[in-house]
Amino acid sequence: MTHAVLSALGLTGQESGTYLGNGEWSKTRDAGVIEPVNPGDGEVLGKVYASSQADYDLILERAQAAFKVWRTTPAPRRGEAIRLCAEALRTHKDALGSLVALEMGKSKPEGDGEVQEMIDIGEFAVGLSRQLYGLTMHSERPGHRMYEQYHPLGIVGIISAFNFPVAVWAWNSFVAAVCGDISIWKPSPKTPLSAIASMKICNEALASAGFPDIFFLFNDAGTDLAQQFVDDRRIPLISFTGSTRVGRTVGERVARRMGRSLLELGGNNAIIVDPTADLKLAIPAIVFGAVGTAGQRCTTTRRLFVHESIYEDVLGKLVTAYKQVEKKIGDPTDPANLMGPLNSSDGVDAYLDAIAKAKAAGGTVVTGGEKLDRPGNYVLPAIVSGLKNSDDIVQHETFAPILYVMPYAELEDAIAMQNDVPQGLSSAIFTTNLKAAEAFLSAAGSDCGIANVNIGTSGAEIGGAFGGEKETGGGRESGSDAWKVYMRRQTNTINYSDALPLAQGIKFDL
Ligand code: UN1
Repeated sequence: MTHAVLSALGLTGQESGTYLGNGEWSKTRDAGVIEPVNPGDGEVLGKVYASSQADYDLILERAQAAFKVWRTTPAPRRGEAIRLCAEALRTHKDALGSLVALEMGKSKPEGDGEVQEMIDIGEFAVGLSRQLYGLTMHSERPGHRMYEQYHPLGIVGIISAFNFPVAVWAWNSFVAAVCGDISIWKPSPKTPLSAIASMKICNEALASAGFPDIFFLFNDAGTDLAQQFVDDRRIPLISFTGSTRVGRTVGERVARRMGRSLLELGGNNAIIVDPTADLKLAIPAIVFGAVGTAGQRCTTTRRLFVHESIYEDVLGKLVTAYKQVEKKIGDPTDPANLMGPLNSSDGVDAYLDAIAKAKAAGGTVVTGGEKLDRPGNYVLPAIVSGLKNSDDIVQHETFAPILYVMPYAELEDAIAMQNDVPQGLSSAIFTTNLKAAEAFLSAAGSDCGIANVNIGTSGAEIGGAFGGEKETGGGRESGSDAWKVYMRRQTNTINYSDALPLAQGIKFDL
């Protein structure tokens, strides 16, 4: 299986982790080796040779040179380059989706879905390449014209996480590319093969049509190169997806050098189920949100507030649904399975630790709560009741399938509890009551970057801006006008008169 998937993507399993540009993959073999593991059975999937200091230096040099050419390439032409990448990804969707499933551990349909997200953002970026609009303003001075334009920013550094090993790169790099930027990617050390395969697919599509290099890749065996990357003044924007703990350091370091950072950090997403909710929609949405990707999305549903009048009913229905899921936990590459393993044994430890803390705080584990006795990092999805929103463990994002269920009496209290966590990524309400829906979406409602009605917290479409508030980091990427962070804005005023009137009516007669 592994061999077939790798060879369909032109990989041998012994890979250079460094794309240097000019069609060259680095020959460095002495800067450390990364060995990604199949989380489903513990098998080592391959060897990836990490990048050296010399590799990093050469990438930066080439990326700077590439930017000089790319920034003056017309944006619609840049869009054509990304169109070819999206097309190539379409051809390789099945194989790349399988590699994501093998290396990350998400189910095959979710692996394929992730590649579909790459294709979708690629197509979005193609359209965007003709719509990088600035405004025209009316000057207060006669014979003057004022407008703004968006210019390419430079090199974009992308640091991505294991849970979306390929889509997050595409969200950033495809939009950055049509904006005229060059991107350099440092993927998660847990999922380097998926990154290498994505780079190969895109770079071959670009090269075969005569496009220059716009994407570079390095892999770091330790953290030295990653730290240099964050501190590198030649990189005006660092886009980081990962934990709040690491993201805080990244944000601080980038701010110290007055760079821009785009942070996509932890979530502690909640769903509110009000008494009028259509449970035929709510139950599957909650289960997919809490259990999908084995609870390892930043948008995973981690808290559930259910109106007290339907609390027991909803809890009973959820337990029944979880028992169905339990029958379909297994090899993520088998499309019949709904849930794969956690990505690492550290993830299993964090899950077991959270369950122990939840019990110690007085919580009841209604279902799940155990590691499965078989090879691989499999756990049972858990539902915990009897805790308060203010309990320490509930306030915390554990990257695992654990759902804390809490009753509420008044909608206002449910909204207050949903907001009362350090994170602010995604949120949802299930209701058929217009007033409840609008209250939830109002200025006094959800404080998250994403707020949905009758849709769960995860599985956002690429067309909207993705990101959240508070400790989620404040960044927005993907759709809407998130492209603006990848460009620099310039305000231009042109005087076509014979006079030099000063703004604000100031007189300065010589
Ligand atoms: C992430 O978990 O890092 O909304 C991104 C979703 C996906 C993206 C998640 N489209 O769940």
